[in-house]
Amino acid sequence: MKILGIESSCDETSAAVVDGKNRVRSNAVTSSLRYHKRYGGIIPEIAFRMQLETVAAVAGCALEEAGVAVGDIDGIAVTKGPGLLGSLLVGISFAKALSLSRRLPLAGVNHLYSHIYACFLNKPLPRMPVMALVVSGGHTSLFHCKDFSHISLVGSTRDDAAGEAFDKVAKILGLGYPGGPVIEKTARKGDPRRISFSCSNTKHPFDFSFSGIKTAVLYYVQKNPGWSSTRKDRQLIADICAGFQHAVLSCLVEKSIAACRAKKIYSLAVGGGVAANSLLREMFASRATEEGIELYFPPREFCMDNAAMVAGMGHWLLSRGCADDLTLDAAPTERG
Ligand code: KG4
Ligand code: ZN
Repeated sequence: MKILGIESSCDETSAAVVDGKNRVRSNAVTSSLRYHKRYGGIIPEIAFRMQLETVAAVAGCALEEAGVAVGDIDGIAVTKGPGLLGSLLVGISFAKALSLSRRLPLAGVNHLYSHIYACFLNKPLPRMPVMALVVSGGHTSLFHCKDFSHISLVGSTRDDAAGEAFDKVAKILGLGYPGGPVIEKTARKGDPRRISFSCSNTKHPFDFSFSGIKTAVLYYVQKNPGWSSTRKDRQLIADICAGFQHAVLSCLVEKSIAACRAKKIYSLAVGGGVAANSLLREMFASRATEEGIELYFPPREFCMDNAAMVAGMGHWLLSRGCADDLTLDAAPTERG
């Protein structure tokens, strides 16, 4: 069974083909990111207009790369949410049109669950249950996965997502957008012990809070005027990045490990854009080894938004008879 996946929840437009052996046959991705950069964040209208223009061509590329014709496809999977409403509607409308015209089964896929599935593409599926951390620009959530259709929320951020905190701190420091990759790079030259930041406590032990640490960075910078011009100040920026990054990543690692211990789960999957961070991977690897937990990360190309994870998750659903009909609607704010 070959599934065509479509992902258009934010700035990316992506289409991919995954086959019956859980192998990614193609994954075409285009992004409107460069048009948003000057605004310091995603502008929904720019995103969905570009998606409307490109979705058919991107799907064509995915089929061509996979070496299959549209007639060889056995089902369509599409992101139904959470995400930007206009962007989701572009992908869903395209998928519905294809499903209707080719009489193909359709599966609406939860974006966060597909970020979890990304950890298991191109390999055998794990033994369940799995604890999963989805950590991206819009979400920071811990899930208990009995299997891929029985997923329940264990904890989530009470305010900013971790990726959002990286993006906002990069903006405060004048480092550009998106913040994650540039903070990771800048932090490599910094000393994480020089300036100590910490994440706020939460009432529930498996929830997260990152808005306080972002404000702490802002206050720190405001108290150090003129930090951007001299060489010494460049070192200060690197030290701020290192201190901030270490605090955020430690919180993600320690809460995820604590949730595994509390629920007696020995498999941990980490997906989403922030999972591309090398230090996060190292910190998780060292703690997981200490705790005897098996760790799953997606390859970096499947950390950011992509349709391969949607096609993979769609394959899992459709092969178990979980299809949607043409009333499938976008769920922009759905959580968990
Ligand atoms: O999953 P994703 O592509 O989109 C959402 O669904 O949000 O994640 C994008 C987020 C951005 O906030 C970006 O700053 C963050 O992932 N990110 C990183 C890194 N690469 C991307 N955060 C920390 N370190 C990175 N290397
Ligand atoms: Zn995402």
